[in-house]
Amino acid sequence: MKALVLSGGSGTRLRPFSYSMPKQLIPIANKPVLEHVLENVRSLGVTEVGIVVGDRAAQISAVIGDGERLGLRITYIRQEEPLGLAHCVSLAREFLGDDDFVMYLGDNMLPDGVEAEAREFTEKRPAAQIVVHKVADPRAFGVAELGQDGRVERLVEKPEHPRSDLALVGVYFFTPAIHEAVAAIGPSARGELEITDAVQWLVTRGDRVTASTYDGYWKDTGRADDVLDCNRKLLDGLKHSVRGQVDEASVLIGPVVVEEGARVVGSHIVGPAIIGAGTLVEHSHIGPDTSIGRDCVLRRTHLSFSMALDGATVTEVRGLHGSLIGRMAIIGPADGRTPHHRLVVGDHTTIEVAA
Ligand code: TTP
Repeated sequence: MKALVLSGGSGTRLRPFSYSMPKQLIPIANKPVLEHVLENVRSLGVTEVGIVVGDRAAQISAVIGDGERLGLRITYIRQEEPLGLAHCVSLAREFLGDDDFVMYLGDNMLPDGVEAEAREFTEKRPAAQIVVHKVADPRAFGVAELGQDGRVERLVEKPEHPRSDLALVGVYFFTPAIHEAVAAIGPSARGELEITDAVQWLVTRGDRVTASTYDGYWKDTGRADDVLDCNRKLLDGLKHSVRGQVDEASVLIGPVVVEEGARVVGSHIVGPAIIGAGTLVEHSHIGPDTSIGRDCVLRRTHLSFSMALDGATVTEVRGLHGSLIGRMAIIGPADGRTPHHRLVVGDHTTIEVAA
């Protein structure tokens, strides 16, 4: 089996972060989403991976490389425009050949792994196998309607009146039959070649399409709130480790990672929390559920359930919660004291102030 990992797209829901980085490189527990994805792919025993990339190709290949570090052989497949998930399959036709493959969305986090689902596919080998997850409100998802025998009867994209609570997770298992389907469908109302339409085409033709249920934690990291939630989930299993310096006036409570070259001075860190390499935390309260990237500076700041990406500086801000702070962002008072707040914020930025 091969893998096709989709790492193009426009990432509009994750602006402003996606203006300067592909959303698949957003760190979760200080490791890019895409790397978590590729580790899951590797644990299926798959080593041949095609990664579909868009205009952020260079950034992605700079981080992931040829895959050797992850035990993978990676082929990059360029998509000039995000024309849909099924369009990605057609672009990868040559790479995929006549092999079965797992298609995995590069922004989907499934920390419990999909080994059981992959085994089910290899044992039963239906024409296609989707993965579904029970959700409280399916209206924002692709929804699967299943028959008594567990076969997929119908797929509906974001239904107003869903007839099932089974949302499609971003992992699909395909035999080469999908290539006929992808070639047969046309663009949807939003102008994309939809993978749901291709799978529906197989169902309508009478091919056996099945669904396996994933009961673990699942998050599509398409929005800032999802990124934070997912980060909290992954920090859950953090193991305490201090390789940087922590002075005697500081207190670490619960699992805290202080990476190499980081310094914690006169501060309270409540785990789970990660302080990235080269970061300085001074007279601050950090955590729980917080990751700080590399080379950040946090002074006299209180920050919980948050993420600060590499190079961010936060000075004298207390009560920060549920915040996602971008790379090299600077938050705090100006050098000369002023009675005003002054904001220089990028497009599509959200700032919520305490009431
Ligand atoms: P989406 O999150 O559905 O689309 P998007 O990246 O355009 O995001 P937004 O809705 O916020 O604008 O895409 C799911 C995954 O598939 C994601 O990793 C991007 C990838 N993708 C492609 O590689 N090519 C495509 O044509 C599309 C639509 C998505």
